[in-house]
This record gives sequence, C-alpha cells and structure tokens, in this order.
Amino acid sequence: MGRLDDRVAIVTGSGRGIGAATAKLFASEGAAVVVNDVDKDPAQETVEEITKAGGKAILNVDNTVTFDAARNLVAQTIEEFGKLDILVNNAGITRDKTFHNMDDEMWDFVLDVNLRTAFNNTRAAVEHMRSEAKKELEGQGAPAYHRKITFTTSTAALSGNPGQANYTAAKMGLVGLTRTLCIELGRFHINSNAVAPGFIETRLTAAKESSEDPNIGIPEGIRNMAMVMIPMGYPGQPEDVAKTHLFLASSDSDYVSGQVIVVGGGVVRY
Ligand SMILES: NC(=O)c1ccc[n+]([C@@H]2O[C@H](COP(=O)([O-])OP(=O)(O)OC[C@H]3O[C@@H](n4cnc5c(N)ncnc54)[C@H](O)[C@@H]3O)[C@@H](O)[C@H]2O)c1
Repeated sequence: MGRLDDRVAIVTGSGRGIGAATAKLFASEGAAVVVNDVDKDPAQETVEEITKAGGKAILNVDNTVTFDAARNLVAQTIEEFGKLDILVNNAGITRDKTFHNMDDEMWDFVLDVNLRTAFNNTRAAVEHMRSEAKKELEGQGAPAYHRKITFTTSTAALSGNPGQANYTAAKMGLVGLTRTLCIELGRFHINSNAVAPGFIETRLTAAKESSEDPNIGIPEGIRNMAMVMIPMGYPGQPEDVAKTHLFLASSDSDYVSGQVIVVGGGVVRY
C-alpha cells in the first residue's frame, strides 16, 4: 500500500530537479501525477520514467503564468483522472543581479514564474478542491479527507540574499500565500504549507561557469561559500525535498498547515 493511493497530484516544474524527484516519488506511492513543465522534453522523460515503473502520469506543458493556462491544467487533470487532491507549486527560476542593476524584465519574469504561476494554479485548484470539500461538508458534516497545496519558497528568501531581490520577494510572497490560505481554507480541510529548500544540487545551483544556461546557476566562489554554511557539510539532493513534499501531501500531515519547513541540512531559518 502506498502513502498516496487513490490521490491525484499536479507537480509543476517536474521536468527536472526537485519537481521531477517529487513526481516520481508520488507516483511510486500510488498517486496519479500530472507532470507540468514548460520544457516538453525533460517533462516527457519524467512521464516515461513513471509509466515504465508501473505508475500513472500524464504530460502538461501549460505555462500557467496566465490564469487560462492554469484552468486548462486543472481541467486536463480532472478530465484524465476525475479529481485533484494535491497541488505542488514547485516551478521556479532565477535571474540574479544586484539590486541597482535589476531591470523591469528580470523583476517581472522571476515574479511571474515563482509567484504568479503559484497564484494561478492555486486559484484554479481551489475552485475544484473547495467545491468538492464544501459538498462533503454539507452532505456528511466534514470533508471526506484532507486536500493538500504546497508552495516552494527558499532559505534565501527567509534570510535575504544578495543578487536575488526579485527571487526573494517572490518567495516571501509565497510564504504570505501559504499562511493566508491556511486560515481561509482550514474549514475545508485544505492544507497549505511550504517547503524552503536550502542548497540542493540542481541546475539552479550548478556552477555558473559550466552551466547549460548562462542565465542560471551560481558563481563557483559563492557555491563554495554556501557549502561551508551547511551544518551537515554536504548539499541536499532533489529527493531530500521530494520526501518532505511527500509528508506534506500525505495524510501524515493532516494536522499541519500554514508551516514553512526548511530542508537545508541543519540550516535554521524562520
Ligand atoms: N535547488 C535549490 O537549491 C533550491 C533552493 C531553494 C528553492 N528552490 C526552489 O525549488 C524549486 C525547484 O527548483 P530546482 O532546483 O529543482 O530547479 P530546476 O531548474 O532543476 O527545475 C525547475 C523546473 O521548472 C520548470 N519551469 C520553469 N518555468 C516554469 C513555468 N512557468 N511553468 C512550469 N515549469 C516551469 C523548468 O523548466 C525546470 O524543469 C524552484 O521553485 C526553486 O526556486 C531550489
């Protein structure tokens, strides 16, 4: 028996990194997963890995920076799997520059990908989740089970981080969403939590000097400095965050809402 048997989940940005690890883990625990990413090829690979292992997954390449796209993502999920129980807002991107060099384009792009997609996806998901829970509440006195929404903030946002005014503003916006939705949706047993990864080995934290995309990554010197600050002395892997997403998506966390869980090898942030 899996920890997510009979559950249907959307994981955004699941073509790579933390999202891909989360989609695969959820599927291995019994969930039907909608793999959403703007990059089709890696997302298709995630779907194929899941289905080859005997799991259930479909591909979606909507860029949910518009609400129509988010509605389409949720509609496709319901059409294919009949419902939506879990939304993991994981898609994220960086465009680092010191504040005095930051322009409108970098600000808008990073706010759109990190914050607006999560707002749109959550709005579209809540339309469905809340109305299902309301029917159950009226019919039998309580929602049938807890539905789960998770956001992805960052330890960089909780402490502030040079070169990331856009990213940290977006990621703290997600903390505000997490806490407000926890209160608004509590009576419908829709849990709202956030994970705050520390330093996790993905393309976002790869050395900029050898990065596949020159817009993404961290200069080698900063990487080394960041590594020294991790109490456990080693960087995290995408699977470390995926396991926390699993906890937050499963019934083990039914009485946990409004929380930000740091996954940072001992890094403490509030
Ligand atoms: N890696 C870390 O150390 C770290 C630390 C803190 C927070 N995070 C956050 O974790 C999340 C995952 O990051 P990662 O390190 O796995 O990055 P990644 O770049 O490996 O994966 C992110 C995926 O998101 C996709 N994506 C980008 N824009 C999208 C959009 N509009 N809609 C759907 N998908 C989109 C990308 O194509 C990519 O496949 C992000 O929100 C990131 O900000 C990562």
